[in-house]
Amino acid sequence: MTTVHRRGMNEAITRFWSLAAPAYDQRCLQRLVYQPAQDEVIATLREHSSRRVADIACGTGILASRIAADLRPDETYGVDMSDGMLAAARRRSSAVLWKKGPAERLPFVDDFLDAIVTTSAFHFFDQPAALAEFHRVLAPGGLVAVATISPRQLLPFQLIDGSGWAPAHNPSPAEMRALFEGAGFTIGDQHRIRRPLWTRALSDLITIGVKP
Ligand SMILES: C[S@@+](CC[C@H](N)C(=O)[O-])C[C@H]1O[C@@H](n2cnc3c(N)ncnc32)[C@H](O)[C@@H]1O
Repeated sequence: MTTVHRRGMNEAITRFWSLAAPAYDQRCLQRLVYQPAQDEVIATLREHSSRRVADIACGTGILASRIAADLRPDETYGVDMSDGMLAAARRRSSAVLWKKGPAERLPFVDDFLDAIVTTSAFHFFDQPAALAEFHRVLAPGGLVAVATISPRQLLPFQLIDGSGWAPAHNPSPAEMRALFEGAGFTIGDQHRIRRPLWTRALSDLITIGVKP
């Protein structure tokens, strides 16, 4: 995909999420759809003591605020490119440093962070570009945890659309491993997100890597 197409896609995604921000925090939606992935990320971070942690595509800031409150790293960052989502995040917590930016061009210098996490958003990213950027801003030994939708079978639009123009790409487990390794990460773990039975149709996956 060209840079111009990517910019157009990012602008459309940003507009959509700014409009969706007011509805996003509904308790039922959060508990059923988003919280299981966030719980897995918190459990992963607990096993890896990190001083500087960033949640990329943080949305309304639920996960970043939990990281700051429960794990108390020295610095917690929440990054998103949607003004509407970031405005809600800023209202949620002053313990997080909120920043605006795309996952593919993060507002951090090289080797700055100890851990990067992202939930329920990676399917929107330019995935090789975002992982290369995560690798740039992580210090050696730094952890990356990506939780994303990864259907067990190809979805109908994936079967018919080979153009690269689908609004989101849901990578398979093998694709995720190849993307991580292509960006220079060593894979630490990969497994399906543990979910209540009635939400298992969502079929998401967490992949955890380390920058050597
Ligand atoms: C479904 S929400 C997920 C929010 C949060 N991570 C969660 O688990 O609740 C998707 C978020 O991804 C953000 N987003 C999508 N593509 C992005 C990109 N390329 N860079 C930064 N943020 C992005 C949107 O603005 C939106 O806030």
